[in-house]
Amino acid sequence: MDRRYEFTRTTTSRIVIGLGVEDALPDLVRSLEPDGVVVLHDAALADLGVRVAKRLGAAARLTIPGGEASKKLANVGDLARNIRLAGATRATVVVGLGGGTITDLVGFTASVLLRGVPFVCCPTTTLAMCDAALGGKNGVDHGGLKNELGTIRQPDLIVGDLAWLRTLPDEQFREGLVEVVKKAAVLDAANFARLEPLAPALAQRDVAAVTEAVDLAVTMKMALVQADEADRGRRHALNFGHTIGHAIESLAGGKLRHGTCVGMGMLLECRAAGVRDEVVARLANVLTALGVPKTVPPQFANVSDLWRIARSDKKAVRGSVPMCVPRAIGDAVEVELTDAALGAALRAP
Ligand SMILES: NC(=O)c1ccc[n+]([C@@H]2O[C@H](COP(=O)([O-])OP(=O)(O)OC[C@H]3O[C@@H](n4cnc5c(N)ncnc54)[C@H](O)[C@@H]3O)[C@@H](O)[C@H]2O)c1
Ligand SMILES: [Zn+2]
Repeated sequence: MDRRYEFTRTTTSRIVIGLGVEDALPDLVRSLEPDGVVVLHDAALADLGVRVAKRLGAAARLTIPGGEASKKLANVGDLARNIRLAGATRATVVVGLGGGTITDLVGFTASVLLRGVPFVCCPTTTLAMCDAALGGKNGVDHGGLKNELGTIRQPDLIVGDLAWLRTLPDEQFREGLVEVVKKAAVLDAANFARLEPLAPALAQRDVAAVTEAVDLAVTMKMALVQADEADRGRRHALNFGHTIGHAIESLAGGKLRHGTCVGMGMLLECRAAGVRDEVVARLANVLTALGVPKTVPPQFANVSDLWRIARSDKKAVRGSVPMCVPRAIGDAVEVELTDAALGAALRAP
């Protein structure tokens, strides 16, 4: 007679994002009953890193340069060794403070170190607050491919203070918000309609507008993550803009930021999939109001290079390149990208 066991996977992280929440960080971390704390932060955020480490009574503070080049396996080994040298055990809380580079890299390190130590994710960019910090995906680039090695593991805690965004340059601030537009475009027509008039205020970094956009991002993404943590079905919709976007990002080799590439990727994927002009126009208008670039610089608009990279993406299976696009705002459909359609989309005015 066989025995059957069923376990419910828990996908809940506690998420606290808002203006001034840094003050609550020590109590929140303490609630995890840690055996010590190690803070890993973006080297560019020295003052913030020092302050947070002090507030948390950290045993060690390690710095990592921001930017995609840091997302590599060698850094995982170095960080793991240094965390252990600081006396960490399996109950030591690892805090990752920085943008998506840091949260992806530190989240991955925490998920494999000693088979997993508690991880507190502290996003400091709009992109990380609206996307990278949410949902438990983390990882590093490998063999020239983005996010080639990684795990899915929810952080124990996500804490983001909107005040941390103050030092972020305008361009980067805006580009991070492209991820909210993306989510609404494929998941929620009402939220998209809310973002349309909000976009100019977001571009001006209005705190109330940003609070609302982050709130929309957290609600939309976590609802989907709870329904499909392992990314086998509905979560695919979040890849909108990322099939072509990641290819552009890889080809640009660090010269274009993720949010920029996703914005361009969304428009190109819609065009390649023959999405109605009205939908494409609404997307393009929001991107314009946000003040982000919409066209691929000519040196990266190479069909054969982009196609080669898209075909080796981890989402591609047996040579076919799936992507998710909104057939209507809020309604995603999975379609197939071809090199001919990619070429036509790149040539479209
Ligand atoms: N795991 C996921 O689900 C997921 C989702 C989306 C994106 N990502 C990843 O996120 C990464 C991009 O994230 P990012 O755009 O935040 O990049 P990033 O972390 O590299 O930050 C970009 C730059 O901003 C600086 N910076 C960070 N916070 C700052 C602040 N508060 N003030 C001033 N400067 C600051 C950094 O030093 C860096 O130079 C990509 O690697 C992407 O693959 C992951
Ligand atoms: Zn993204």
